[in-house]
Amino acid sequence: MELSKYYREKGIPTCLHETLNELILQVTIKKPKNVLEIGTAVGISGSAMLFTSDDLFLTTIEKDEDSYNTAKNTFIEFGFSNRVKQYFGDAGDIVRFLEGPYDFIFLDGAKARYYDYLPDLKRILASNGVLFADNVLFRGFIDGGVKYDHRDNTIVRNMRAFLNELIEDDNYICSIYEKGDGILVAYKK
Ligand SMILES: C[S@@+](CC[C@H](N)C(=O)[O-])C[C@H]1O[C@@H](n2cnc3c(N)ncnc32)[C@H](O)[C@@H]1O
Repeated sequence: MELSKYYREKGIPTCLHETLNELILQVTIKKPKNVLEIGTAVGISGSAMLFTSDDLFLTTIEKDEDSYNTAKNTFIEFGFSNRVKQYFGDAGDIVRFLEGPYDFIFLDGAKARYYDYLPDLKRILASNGVLFADNVLFRGFIDGGVKYDHRDNTIVRNMRAFLNELIEDDNYICSIYEKGDGILVAYKK
């Protein structure tokens, strides 16, 4: 939590305190062995998940080179290098060739792209696996409660499509939490 606060104050995106707390709660309950994270940033949420268990292996994707390199050092400093596979590049290109199966996926990259990733995320998420997505209520714009600028049309449209598809899919049990910027927890039957 301290490291997360330190980087946020420097303008580096890491998930909000209550989001990180919920993530760690879900990972601690689920005890996944094979986790995929989209949006490594500097490795804070990834390290937090790795701290929960020595049996957890993390695959994580980041498109910003500086963040990717900083995360590499974060994982080295915490002694996690042998339990992390880092990909540098656009998540849309990388998820296409991942095979999984992953028993936990943390989606925390570009909000407008969640819906594009969904077919691959469904393919690589194991049965009984959990998809945990951050920012799904994006500043209150998604549920219609807060007015948004036309610049955010694409994010709002795509996030609604992402949520609706999962909620209407009988293979998933979904819950949306009004914590942080909105969290989706979707369990695959
Ligand atoms: C909110 S931050 C992730 C924070 C991190 N999960 C944490 O809590 O420590 C989002 C990250 O996703 C990365 N990102 C955005 N679009 C991406 C894409 N298309 N492919 C891969 N990474 C992307 C950004 O560079 C940024 O570092």
